[in-house]
Amino acid sequence: MTLRRFEIQDIDQTVLLWLEELRTKTIAAMQDELTVGTKSDVRDLVTNVDRANEKLINQKIRAYDSEAHIVSEEGFGDQQRDMKGHVWFVDPIDGTMNFVKEREEFAIMIALYIDNQPVLGWILDVVNNTVYHGGPEIGVFANQLRLTPPMDESLAQGIVLLSGARLLYGMFGYDHIAKAALGYRVIGAAGPSFIRVIRGQAVGYSSKMMPWDFAAGQVLAKTLGLSVSDIDGQPLDMLSSNIVLVATNRAHRDILALHKS
Ligand code: IPD
Ligand code: CA
Ligand code: CA
Ligand code: CA
Repeated sequence: MTLRRFEIQDIDQTVLLWLEELRTKTIAAMQDELTVGTKSDVRDLVTNVDRANEKLINQKIRAYDSEAHIVSEEGFGDQQRDMKGHVWFVDPIDGTMNFVKEREEFAIMIALYIDNQPVLGWILDVVNNTVYHGGPEIGVFANQLRLTPPMDESLAQGIVLLSGARLLYGMFGYDHIAKAALGYRVIGAAGPSFIRVIRGQAVGYSSKMMPWDFAAGQVLAKTLGLSVSDIDGQPLDMLSSNIVLVATNRAHRDILALHKS
């Protein structure tokens, strides 16, 4: 069932209120010592804040939306097998390594898809107190400021953002892509990287990501007319990992051509 515009605006405003609370709690927790653990390897960090944020967000989603299915990183979500109905994506701290070591360039991300259609996305830049939010029905905003589509610059005209580990090992043609760009950067977190592309500070971003890493960014980027696909140009699979590419339309064509060559 499709939602009306006022219902979508209502959901947007509700989640913005949750994110205010989440931001306050996250900043307060940063004043205390973090409990840092590891998951699959020594670089795969998780903290008490990742877990507490996910618990709180998922509780709020379930209380607000009785039809919610939740795909989230830290284990408080559902085992989702299809994209039917209301599917929420939650990344309670995106860029946990940055959160722990740099104390900036991390985000809290939430997205809502209904019957596989992107409806709303939220990326909260906690340190800069800016939420990038919106979707196809309402447009994209940085807090209250409406964003316009970034300039359609080519790869050679701009900065490309890449995953550091894959760039180091020359995977997915990332070495060729970095050389063909005007400049390249490794931000170390998906949300802050999506923000740079959405704001026109970078012409593209590519990394291997899980659905909670790209769900919100995809909604916002597509709404602004940017291209989002996997590195072979195919639509993203919302329920498994993908080599994601988000870029201006021109840089997207440039990167796909380099990846194939
Ligand atoms: C990670 C970061 C990183 C990306 C990884 C993600 P996390 O998210 O966004 O930049 O390369 O694929 O898993 O685990 O810190 O939420
Ligand atoms: Ca993680
Ligand atoms: Ca993440
Ligand atoms: Ca995370």
